This record gives sequence, structure tokens and C-alpha cells, in this order.
Amino acid sequence: MMNLPKPIVVLAMISCSLTSFAQTVPQLGKNSVKEVIAAMTLEEKATLVVGASKPPANQSTMAGGAMIGATQAKVPGAAGNTAAIPRLGIPSMVLSDGPAGVRIQPIRNGDSTKTYYATAFPVGTLLASSWDPALVNRVGKAFGNEVLEYGVDILLAPGVNIHRNPLNGRNFEYYSEDPLIAGTMAGAIINGVQSNGVGTSIKHFAANNQETNRTTINTLVSERALREIYLRGFRIAIAASNPWTVMSSYNKINGTYTAERHDLITTVLRDEWHFKGFVMTDWGGGRNWVDEMKAGNDLIEPGRPSQTQAIISAVQHDSLSVKALDENVEHILNIVLQSPSFKHYQYSNKPDLKAHAEISRQAATEGMVLLKNDDHTLPLKGVKVIAAFGNASYNTIAGGTGSGDVNKAYVVSVRQGLDNAGYICDAGLTYDYTTYLKQEKAKAPAGRRAPAPAEFMESEEMINKRSGSTDIALITIGRNAGEGSDRNLQTNYNLTDAEKQQIKKIATAFHHQGKKVVIVLNIGGVIDMNGWQDDADAILLAWQPGLEAGNAIADVLSGKVNPSGKLATTFPVTYTDVPSAKNFPGTPEGKPEQVIYQEGIYVGYRYYDTFNVKPQYEFGYGLSYTNFSISGLKLNTSTMTKNLTAAVSVKNTGGVAGKQVVQIYVSAPAKSIDKPVQELRAFGKTKLLQPGESQVLTFNISVNDLASYHTAQSEWITDAGKYTLKAGASSRDIKQAAVFTVPAPIVTENDHKAFELPVEISELKGK
Ligand code: BGC
Repeated sequence: MMNLPKPIVVLAMISCSLTSFAQTVPQLGKNSVKEVIAAMTLEEKATLVVGASKPPANQSTMAGGAMIGATQAKVPGAAGNTAAIPRLGIPSMVLSDGPAGVRIQPIRNGDSTKTYYATAFPVGTLLASSWDPALVNRVGKAFGNEVLEYGVDILLAPGVNIHRNPLNGRNFEYYSEDPLIAGTMAGAIINGVQSNGVGTSIKHFAANNQETNRTTINTLVSERALREIYLRGFRIAIAASNPWTVMSSYNKINGTYTAERHDLITTVLRDEWHFKGFVMTDWGGGRNWVDEMKAGNDLIEPGRPSQTQAIISAVQHDSLSVKALDENVEHILNIVLQSPSFKHYQYSNKPDLKAHAEISRQAATEGMVLLKNDDHTLPLKGVKVIAAFGNASYNTIAGGTGSGDVNKAYVVSVRQGLDNAGYICDAGLTYDYTTYLKQEKAKAPAGRRAPAPAEFMESEEMINKRSGSTDIALITIGRNAGEGSDRNLQTNYNLTDAEKQQIKKIATAFHHQGKKVVIVLNIGGVIDMNGWQDDADAILLAWQPGLEAGNAIADVLSGKVNPSGKLATTFPVTYTDVPSAKNFPGTPEGKPEQVIYQEGIYVGYRYYDTFNVKPQYEFGYGLSYTNFSISGLKLNTSTMTKNLTAAVSVKNTGGVAGKQVVQIYVSAPAKSIDKPVQELRAFGKTKLLQPGESQVLTFNISVNDLASYHTAQSEWITDAGKYTLKAGASSRDIKQAAVFTVPAPIVTENDHKAFELPVEISELKGK
């Protein structure tokens, strides 16, 4: 050794031993996850399983503390993050909403010269109405690119809850009343998003079908309805796409918060379905943090220091085992390893918003549903000047509110879209509406989201005048809703009397002049159609179509795109026809604590078809500008023991190119338990068929697809007997049918007993 002064020798020795110590601390990625966990302190484990959105209580003892602030600064406006533990090479991951586009803050530090807007894609109800998983996958790819390029690791989407009741304020985020549609669409978007190397969080697991008292409501539901309806969509999506994470829901199921239910999160999700990622709570979901850990809910979001302390204390007092906590940690670390943050991905903050807007526009046109088209009113012919009525013609709604809302740079209104397509919107009406809407905006309280202004009422004189000077009336009806509350039956589901009167006045004036009335529905969920719809010559259900709304609507109205969307959710004649109407949003009235799913498995068309209740527009319904024949249904066998293939030919028999959806419904023998008269078991969409062109679509169905859940035996069973397979253009427009038999009953799966009801409920039984 050199002749160094004494203190320097000591320092040199310390630093040398520190270096060798640092080298022996396992590092994520270099060492195995198990080795990293073995090196973690209890405090570090408890830090990792609690989201890091708030600074820890004791900054000095939490290794991730310094990093957390940095992560929040990394993507302002993101919903949450996970804790970093730099000592072990564990970075923080950024989690961001939501189902229709990346939800982040668009302007940072008041600097509007550099913006972070995201693409608002069409909402879930619209995407599902395309019945086109390949299209939804393309949306997912573009969407996931924005997740990646804006520095986010995990997207808090998609939402797969079932449209149990049309008043649910978040139905726009979800896909369908049918779990096959919901699960297939979710799987398609997850595959698209995750193909970018980022993650998703399929939510809200499970039976989160209302917003009223969403954080405490106790859902009482049978195991059969859960497994056949409310869990099935999640299962289909998870099997198809391996989402990185699952988000548990706020509500209780049969008395226990979902995040605290071991049967839901471990027995069903992991043991039966083989889910490999991690589970996180919804933001502030559940009450008992330790039970959440035990149930297999690995991450608590957004996270509070007291939750970390509760977990540390539970381990110290033997009420939570180290083994259970280690499993939670392992699930999270396995995903951290795949994350862009772990890979130090250099995100650009510059996704190709122009290209993505084009995808959003195209997807929007594919999911719009033509509900009515008397005398071929649409596509518009010989129309130049349009009288555009309705607030939503000018303030067009791209998507719903809450965490499902996207901070987008613009929304193309219906009026702008028509303008862009070469039509002329009446200037007087434009002036009246825009002046009114500006005034209403100025009146709205600053800083808070203002309620939508009341519908502007044009004077009768003006309406009469316009009916003479314009070629056609177009009325856009807008409805919005979102997280935190359900829709009001009188003012949101129904049209108001004033709205109906206005439609009537417009229709009378224009019809008197021999001119047509087109109504565009700019809505996120089902509305009442009674009466007023008779005043319209054509109705286009445009849903909430994302930021290119007006352009996409003009594409369909003009005939540039032939509509091919089909309803993935039923429009009933009246709200009281809805099978859950009597049990929504629960009891006691006004402040519901529990909701009983008395309708059991009879949700949507499963109810309307089994109990012969005629809907206004049935599940699967949607018109086109052309006609199709569906013929030549062939099964590859008449006896099914494992699989069956059905093939059917679709021909465009009309005058313009178009796409058709074929829906395969199966009626099963109700030998041992009651069953819906028919259930959707497969579907497919043709390519763009030119007039006269045909395409054969084939469908593979396995015995697993046909099984019903027998609660007493905890078995999925496909009964023996005669089955009818039907190929339809909607659930009530069956074009072809064929019969096959299952020679002997088949137990397709044996599950665990779960979701025990604390009280008996009387459930609706089929015939
Ligand atoms: C919503 C979730 C969302 C989360 C984070 C919750 O209130 O229910 O859907 O992902 O907030 O913003």
C-alpha cells in the first residue's frame, strides 16, 4: 500500500467495501425475481405493493421516495404509478387512463407552445358496434403507440363490464350486453395496445354495473349469472390477450369487496383462468388492505403511506404471511421487467397524431349504426344546403366524462364535418346556435365542468323560413354521462318534452315542403326512441365517435362510407321493459346499499328473446345502403362431440359496396337447467363486398362455447340433445338455420365453488 495518511486509508477501505457490497445487492433484470425478493426488506416489499402517488410518510427511510416525485413529473396527469426501489434496480411504472385514449395533462407548466394532446378514439359502445375485432385491434395498435410515446407503462383500460342497465353512466366505456362481444373486443384492443410493449389493465373486475354508490354498493348475484354473464367477457379477453394487469372493482359481490375476494382474484382468475399478470385495486377501492393482499390483489392504488404501514404491521403481527406478500411482489416485478420504464425506453412525446386521427375517423364510421332509413333518405342525394339543428351539431360530443375522457386538441363538430364534405350549413342557424352556446359557456362557473347547456330552441318562424331555404333538416341529439353518477331517466335517457316538440316542429315544417328530416344520435348509451322517431325519415346512431366526430358522421351521411355497424346492446321500447329496471340502482331507494341481480342470466337479448318482449331495435340490428343475402348454411357435421364448423355465404344483392355482419346464435336444449332461447356463439364480418360479390364466412364452435354453468355441481355442462344453429343479420332476423345433436352430455370444465350468496335471492327462471 502507498504511504497514505491514516484517515485516507480508512476512507479508501470503506469505499472499497461499499463497492463490493453494492455489487452483491441483487438487481432486477440481472438477478432472478426470486433473488431480488430475497434481498428486499419488509418495508421495501410493503412499499412496492402500494401505489406511489403520494409522497411516503417517512421520506428518509423509503428508498423510492426521491424517485416518486420524479415519476409524477414524468407524465403529468397520469392516474398513478408504482413505487421505485433504486437500490434493487426497480423503476417506477406510470399508469394512465382510459378506454378511449391516453388521459394525460395536455399543457405543462403553462407552456402551450409544446402540447401533449392525445387522440380521442371512438368510445367502447361504438367500437363494439363495428363487430370487427380486426378494426378494434388496429385502433389498439395506434392507441398503444401513444401510451408508449407519452412515457406511460400501463394503460388503465379496457372496461369490460356488461351493459346490464342503460342508465349506467359508464356504459359508453364498455362494449355490450353480451359477454362474447365484450370479451372479443377487449381482447382485440388489448392485443393491439400491448403489441407496442406497454401494458393494459382490464377493468373493473367484476360486476361493476352502476355508478350510484359505486364504492360501497353490495351486488347480490348468483354464481351462474356471474360466470355466464359478468365474468365471461373478462375470461374471453384474458385468454385471447394476456393483459399485463387486471383492475378489481369498487363494489362488493355477495357481501365482500371484490378486491378482498380470494375466490374471485385467486381461485377464478389465477387458478381457473391461469392469469399471469398482477391485480390492482381501483382508485381507493376496498377497505381492508391486508385482506386485499391475501386475496391476491397485488397492488393498492393510488396508494397511501398508511396502507404500507398497515401491511408492515400485519406481517409483524402474523396476520399476513411473508409468503403471501412475496407472491404479490413477484406478480408486480414480473411485469416491471417488461415495462418501457425498466427498459429505459426513450419516449418521444411525439406520437403521429395525424395518422391516429385518420384511424379514429375510419373506426368511427365502421361502428355507426343506421337505425332508420325510410325511402332511402340516406345517403344524402341532391342536397347542398343543410339546416343543422341541435346543440350537438355545433358542440359535438367526442366521448364521455370522467376518467374515460381524453384531453384532445380538437373535436370536429357535425357542422364542420358537413362543411368539410362540401355541404353548406345554413348560416343563420349556425349563428343562432353558436351565439347561444357561447353565451351559455360564459355563464358557466369557472374551473368546474359545467353541465351541458339546455337545448337551444329555435323559433317557429325561423324553422319555417329554413324549411323553405334549405334542402334538408338535420337534428343532432346529444347525450353525455360518465364516471361517478348514473344517467337520469327523465332528462338523459328520455328526450325532454321541449326536445320532442322541437323535433315535431321541424318535421312538420320540412315535411310540409316535401323535405326530409335526418336525426343523428350523438350519445354514449341507449336512449328512449318512443314517438319522436316517427318524425324522422332517417336516424343515424353515431354514438360518441372520438375527435374526428363530424368528419366521420359526414362520411356516412354522404355515402362515402356505407354504414355496417350493428347494435351490441338492445334499444327497448320503454325503460320499464329492461329486465333490471326494477333492480337498479338498488335499495333502499335514494341511497342504495345493495342491488339484487334478480334477472340472473337474462340480460339484454337473452331476456327479450326468452320472454317474448319486443324491443325497439334488437341486439344485432343495423341497416345498410345496400342489401345482402345470407344463404347456403352448411355444418361440417350433424353430430358434435368436440368442435363444429359452420359456413355461410353472404352476397351483396344491392347497388353499392358494403359490409355485412353474420351472427351465429345457438338454441340449446334446456334439459337440466333453464336456458335463454338463444345465445350469440360466434360472429363475423365480410370484407367490403362490391355489388354482386359474395364471400363465404366460416365459424368454429367448440363444445366449451355451448356449456352452461351448473351451480350445484360446479360444472360447465353441454347438454345432450338437439341444437339449432342460426345465422342471422340480427338476433331477430335469422336467415338460415341448421340442426345438430350432441349425443351425450359433456362436462367441459370442473370449477371451484365460489361467490356464496349471504342471503337467498329469487332469480328469474326461463321457460
Ligand atoms: C375509475 C377507474 C380509473 C381510476 C384511475 C377510478 O375512479 O373507476 O376506471 O382507472 O379511477 O383514474
